[in-house]
Amino acid sequence: MAKEFPLRPVSVKPVSTPHRRLRGAIPDERTIAAIRRLRAAEPISMRGQAPLIWDRAEGFQVYDARGNRWIDFSSGVLIANAGHGRKEIADAIVRQARKPLFTSYCFPNMPRLELVELLSKLSPVPLKKVFLLSTGSEGTECALKLMRTYGVKRGGPSKKVIVSFERAFHGRTLGAQQIGGIPSGKAWIQNLDPDIVHADFPDGFRCPDTSFSHFEETIKKLRVDPDRVAGVISETYQGGGASFMPVEFARELRRWCDRHGALLAFDEVQAGFGRCGAFWGFELYGVRPDLFCLGKGISSSLPVSAVIGRREVMDLYGPNEMTSTHSGNPICAAAAVANIKLILRENLVKNAERVGTVLQEELEAIRRDFADVVGARHGRGLVAGLHMVYPGGREPNPDLAWEVVYRCYLKGLLMFAPVGFGGATVKIAPPLCITKEAVIEGCGVIREALEEITGVKK
Ligand SMILES: Cc1ncc(COP(=O)(O)O)c(C=O)c1O
Repeated sequence: MAKEFPLRPVSVKPVSTPHRRLRGAIPDERTIAAIRRLRAAEPISMRGQAPLIWDRAEGFQVYDARGNRWIDFSSGVLIANAGHGRKEIADAIVRQARKPLFTSYCFPNMPRLELVELLSKLSPVPLKKVFLLSTGSEGTECALKLMRTYGVKRGGPSKKVIVSFERAFHGRTLGAQQIGGIPSGKAWIQNLDPDIVHADFPDGFRCPDTSFSHFEETIKKLRVDPDRVAGVISETYQGGGASFMPVEFARELRRWCDRHGALLAFDEVQAGFGRCGAFWGFELYGVRPDLFCLGKGISSSLPVSAVIGRREVMDLYGPNEMTSTHSGNPICAAAAVANIKLILRENLVKNAERVGTVLQEELEAIRRDFADVVGARHGRGLVAGLHMVYPGGREPNPDLAWEVVYRCYLKGLLMFAPVGFGGATVKIAPPLCITKEAVIEGCGVIREALEEITGVKK
């Protein structure tokens, strides 16, 4: 069974800074009682985060009902790019709800039009057709279906192979878990699709060989004829470790796809909307995919996702053949439009780049100072991962990662439970409106936690 944080009150040392405030017992008895009620009514899978009930969240701060305040290094789970509780987004939601127009299925509504036009305008040529959905998994499922449909239609029934990457995460539905690269996540499937294969992801740590020839050799070892590949899909950066592929690898991959008539898809569900210090994460590679998936930061709030692609790919299905009940929901679309305009108006992409540099420097200093147990720091902009290992080696150390996240929570810094390979990556992803001062304070908390755990003061 996966790990859990303890559900018991801890008398914390009071914290009072401009960004954090904690006093008394964390969590208090009322919170514990409410969490017990949740546990009675929900599946065990819904447990697993630090025991806190969010009461409100504003900007880069999260509050409980007792007035305790955390710096948020989670953005929910990389959702609140523009910041939590932004007035502009709340106003758009309320305006649309008061109209009232709550839903229209695929009958058109004006917020849907505004959102697809805005996304289309922001996407580079020739990625101009936008299909709205509700969740990231729906988006990656759709990308999988489009890639295979395109391959088979263009190249016949044998052009159906999908290449994905080890350690990838694309969601928890059937297709998404098959293209995912986490064996335990797809054990339940049993009848795995033999035409979905995985190459190693060149992160330079878990896979030290980052050369493109390693990718080609893997395809050969898997006995896949490259001309039978319908598409290659990769997260723009792997969410589990905040790990990017080398720029040259991405460029070679683009060329390889072109040579073999395969589509290239990026899963930008985490990387989009400024997270990595560029509006689209794939801009950092100087490469354009044929289609890409969006979610999370698209609205900073309500469930919206999207697939954007070239016309020939997006128009493979006829009227009413590719739909979803909540596609283009007017309230979700209004929230997304307000969010994107806010990110652009406040230049939050630039802030992610600027403050992101500070974040990466602070974390790199932590990696250096605790090199024995922090095996690597990956990331760009305002997303990062600290890869915890057993002393001196590369074996993932989930216990240490959990202890760091737990201690930080008790000190007023909020991160979600460790993710990634071996569940040993401490993931850091604050809202893009965070300030340099708050980032430095938050990294100071991580350092303090590591000092306490290792007994080494740096
Ligand atoms: C890269 C990536 N793709 C897809 C998903 C799935 O999104 P959702 O949970 O909205 O289905 C996630 C979620 O964490 C993700 O990080």
